Amino acid sequence: MAVRAVLRVFARRQSTAATILPEQLEWRDARPYSEVPGPKPLPVVGNTWRFLPYIGNFRIEEVDRVSRELYHKYGPVVKLAGLLGRPDMVFLYDADEIERVFRNEELMPHRPSMPSLNYYKHVLRKDIFGQHAGVIAVHGKSWYSFRTKVQQAMLQPRIVKLYVKPIEDTAKAFTQRINKIRDEHLEVPEDFLNEIHKWSLESIARVALDIRLGCLDDDLPHDSDTQTLINAVTTFFEKVGVLELKFPFWKIFNTPTWCTYIKSLDTITRMTKKHIQQAQQSARTDSLLQRVLALEPGHPHIAHVLAIDMFLVGIDTTSTAVASILYQLSLHPDKQEQLYNEIQQVLPSQETPITSQHLEQMSYLKACIKETLRMYPVVIGNGRCMTRDTVIAGYQIPAGTHVVFQHYVISNLEQYFPEADKFLPERWLKHSCNHKPHPFVSLPFGYGRRMCLGRRFADLEIQIIIAKIVQMFKIQYKYKKLEYRIHPMYTPDGPLKFTFINRTS
Ligand code: HEM
Repeated sequence: MAVRAVLRVFARRQSTAATILPEQLEWRDARPYSEVPGPKPLPVVGNTWRFLPYIGNFRIEEVDRVSRELYHKYGPVVKLAGLLGRPDMVFLYDADEIERVFRNEELMPHRPSMPSLNYYKHVLRKDIFGQHAGVIAVHGKSWYSFRTKVQQAMLQPRIVKLYVKPIEDTAKAFTQRINKIRDEHLEVPEDFLNEIHKWSLESIARVALDIRLGCLDDDLPHDSDTQTLINAVTTFFEKVGVLELKFPFWKIFNTPTWCTYIKSLDTITRMTKKHIQQAQQSARTDSLLQRVLALEPGHPHIAHVLAIDMFLVGIDTTSTAVASILYQLSLHPDKQEQLYNEIQQVLPSQETPITSQHLEQMSYLKACIKETLRMYPVVIGNGRCMTRDTVIAGYQIPAGTHVVFQHYVISNLEQYFPEADKFLPERWLKHSCNHKPHPFVSLPFGYGRRMCLGRRFADLEIQIIIAKIVQMFKIQYKYKKLEYRIHPMYTPDGPLKFTFINRTS
């Protein structure tokens, strides 16, 4: 009898051990979620009060500062719990852990941004977006099927290279615009960022629809279609941050912020549709719209929605990056000179048309772009909603939690980049630096299956415009140093009154 009992216990133990998966063991051994450090939520108002005016110190424009302070106070994993109307957030400041989360991502990763846009696409304007609502603020199967259909046209280097010429034409038009708007001291006006927005919109229109909007031709009236679209995109980004981080009153009633937000989205959708119609009438075949139409002939709606998504997120992101790179080059004349020398070597004359081979040779140009986006990433963090229970940094993180990768903070830590506070483009050059950066610290375009869909176009646009400007002008900035603010992208905060001095070549 006793022998049988011992054998039964042994068999039970064996079968339990066989069914426990390694991740279950990891989960069992991890520390409980309640132990993740972070600011304590108050009863009833949780941590939401910290975003309220006057009493809270988490101002949305200063999320960079808040994030840095949380890291210094609590360490590499910080929980922000008790956010009324939205799931907890866990901020992650550890590159190895970020890498682990990214490398284990599932087929349909969920980036938990913009629930308000999700509502707009799926409920309010369902008549326009229908089943194929694009990729921004769309999740699961709907996101997957859309992304699969458009990814090839958006990310294949072979296709992207075809756009060098139209993008260079737009960059040339921008340098002519600089010539035109400079005053007698060769300084551009205070609203130079708006000029960069115009360049960005013109470039996206050339790429997405192969149309010329004429943004850079003359001074645009304030109520022109182009200026209205630029204003709508800026308003969209300004309001989306407020709607996401503050208590979501919009889910209960139409707040003024919500109404402005919807108006801006309606304007973007309406204007894009108008431009799409214009593009279709003009029988041109070089646009992304036409390429996607050719790949998905039965689904013209997909090409239309893709164009809306591109106008939505492809303007302010790229223009902020350009503004920031020009500003850093103006602060670091020695680096600017080094870049100018490289451009001179590759492109001896201002008249030589740029090709993709030229761009391949400009490694210092790419290094300047990377270094700016390391120190001042346009989007300061990225995130994923955990779709299953996951162990992160030794803690049990339950499904549904929003994990936010704090790239801005960590890419400015000495631990990852020696002399992190110095603008040193050479750290990105293969042969001149012995410290190889951790590949998951600075990820300005995200990573994995949901990585930025416009990345290759953004890279191309930025490389060409910076190469053209530095080739033609010496850039100076003669005023007090600017702080960076979330505005709504991470932007040098103040009038970008650059001086552009012509170079001769
Ligand atoms: C400097 C310029 C840009 C930056 C820094 C940037 C950054 C980002 C980041 C961080 C993401 C999230 C990626 C992730 O979750 O892993 C993203 C997504 C996206 N970006 Fe960009 N972006 C830029 C330009 C553009 C442009 C020019 C376009 C369109 C032409 C674009 C279209 C998109 C789209 C459609 C997504 C969503 C992809 C998806 O969820 O499947 N972006 N971008």
